[in-house]
Amino acid sequence: MQRMKWWLLSWLVFFLSQQTSTDSPPKTPCNTTQHENSGGQGSCKDRCQNKDDSCCCMNYVDDILETGSLEDTINAIEELEDFIEKAEINGSDLAMTSDHVVALQYEPNDMFNGFNIHASDKNISYEPLPSSTLGVQLPTELSPGSNNTIVILKLKWPETNRRILGSQYEVYDRALVGLSVEGKNISGLHQRVNITINLTKKINETQKPSCHFFNFTTRNFSENGCITLWTRGQNNVTCSCDHLTYFAVLMVPASPSPKDQEILTYISLTGCSLSLFTLVITVLLFITNRKVREDVSMKVHINLVIALILLNLHFLLSSTVAAVSSTGVCLYMALALHCSLLATFFWMALEGFHLYLLLVRVFNIYIKRYLLKISVVGWGVPVVIVSVVVIINRGFYGLVSLDTSNPNKRAICYITNNTVNMGTTVGLFSLVFLFNMFMFGATIRCVWVLRKSTEFGQSNRDRAKKDICTLLGVMTLLGITWGLVFFSFGHLTIVGLYLFCILNSLQGFFIFLWFMMSMRKAKTSVTKTSNENHSNNT
Ligand SMILES: *[C@@H]1O[C@H](CO)[C@@H](O)[C@H](O)[C@H]1NC(C)=O
Ligand SMILES: *[C@@H]1O[C@H](CO)[C@@H](O)[C@H](O)[C@H]1NC(C)=O
Ligand SMILES: *[C@@H]1O[C@H](CO)[C@@H](O)[C@H](O)[C@H]1NC(C)=O
Ligand SMILES: *[C@@H]1O[C@H](CO)[C@@H](O)[C@H](O)[C@H]1NC(C)=O
Ligand SMILES: *[C@@H]1O[C@H](CO)[C@@H](O)[C@H](O)[C@H]1NC(C)=O
Ligand SMILES: *[C@@H]1O[C@H](CO)[C@@H](O)[C@H](O)[C@H]1NC(C)=O
Repeated sequence: MQRMKWWLLSWLVFFLSQQTSTDSPPKTPCNTTQHENSGGQGSCKDRCQNKDDSCCCMNYVDDILETGSLEDTINAIEELEDFIEKAEINGSDLAMTSDHVVALQYEPNDMFNGFNIHASDKNISYEPLPSSTLGVQLPTELSPGSNNTIVILKLKWPETNRRILGSQYEVYDRALVGLSVEGKNISGLHQRVNITINLTKKINETQKPSCHFFNFTTRNFSENGCITLWTRGQNNVTCSCDHLTYFAVLMVPASPSPKDQEILTYISLTGCSLSLFTLVITVLLFITNRKVREDVSMKVHINLVIALILLNLHFLLSSTVAAVSSTGVCLYMALALHCSLLATFFWMALEGFHLYLLLVRVFNIYIKRYLLKISVVGWGVPVVIVSVVVIINRGFYGLVSLDTSNPNKRAICYITNNTVNMGTTVGLFSLVFLFNMFMFGATIRCVWVLRKSTEFGQSNRDRAKKDICTLLGVMTLLGITWGLVFFSFGHLTIVGLYLFCILNSLQGFFIFLWFMMSMRKAKTSVTKTSNENHSNNT
């Protein structure tokens, strides 16, 4: 009875294997049991005595993918390719699978007219597989005629924190697909080879897949000769390449689409122009109005206004100058832009400091030559920082491309060195932002306390309106809106980018409104006690 059962079972297994292997090559599972000393060093050649033992080499690669160094990994992959190319095949193709690798060796016949291959994590076949994650279309042109063999390898790195082949970007599915023809370096194909990868994970809005190949000479990923065919929402990506190598889909940051960029450019140009116009009017109002001119707070505001005028002016001019691309003028533009940006940051911080003096130390402050001192900080420190940077290396300033996919198209004269940019603008702004957030918190508290303690017959609604206006005004002066940069951590989402663009290019306009409101109040403030921060200390 027992024997009968075994016989039936074997027959069934035999029958099933016959059924599934009609067209595709039989699969050779290279199980982990064949591991010798895992994690060891060496190479396939040292480890596997038998030169035909591709399975042994595959297991070695399994180990290497788990723990090996970059050097070992590259060597092992090259060796495996070699082993599989040279593996004995007795009249049929060879398909092999192990823990992290699936491989196929294919010998084209005279009638070669291109073909399709499908692979999942554990299988490889000529027919579509139910769990297929990969499809490869090889062009007719590859017809090698004689006894050249085509090898297809798919490697999948295990889940670890390590970077894959030193890539600075996430490698999709941790997978690398290798295509090669024995003894040939295939490049410059007329009909491209198409590798389609099914996307099972959702693609983040800030990322997009990009087809790269691993160049074994330079040991890094490169895009040369590969086109990525993908539109957002599509659940597969096709890499169309004119050479055979090792391919991977890297998740690179998505830059806004050309249309979005055009709209953004338009918005920021309009916003900055409007800002510039209203800021200049603000200065004129300041100059012509004696009462306003005597107010210390107004003097602080007007310095911020001047810094913003310089910033907007240079920003507007910078891209024009970049288009003309004269090195000398571009250097000046970059210096001026950096300097006015820093001055804006410093004056925003000084607004915060001024607010602190008014609100927290309510008793009359008198600092000798107060305005002169803060002006030295507000204008002097930015000039010093820029001077130091330009003395260290003039090359830190120059032409910077805004569009990574098309470097020649949109550029601006600014800081070229990323470290300098991070340190002197983002780093500095972070400090200013923290300081001003604290000041803003103090203002909210102060307004709250005043609101509770004073009832001057004004209707509640009016008061609330006024308080909100005050807070919005203070927020603008302190540059809190600039903080939107932080919500996007590195790469702005499209929505974030639009918001940032609109709010900041309109900062000047908001300040103008605030200025007008304050002026009106200055005229009528004789009778009213005000919770405003700028009428009580001249
Ligand atoms: C191919 O055939 C030879 C002899 O005919 C045999 O020694 C070898 O093991 C076979 N190889 C494979 C991969 O089946
Ligand atoms: C790959 O795709 C491109 C563009 O879609 C096409 O021109 C080419 O013929 C395809 N290659 C193969 C081998 O089908
Ligand atoms: C292919 O290129 C590699 C290095 O890029 C070189 O070592 C090898 O000799 C080349 N093979 C052929 C057949 O040209
Ligand atoms: C790899 O990089 C080297 C050096 O830049 C280059 O000569 C070679 O063509 C690249 N390989 C491929 C397949 O593009
Ligand atoms: C790859 O390395 C070469 C030279 O080492 C460099 O020029 C190139 O920018 C690098 N590419 C990437 C994508 O890092
Ligand atoms: C890729 O996706 C598109 C649309 O989502 C579909 O039309 C196409 O057939 C898919 N291609 C493959 C090879 O699955």
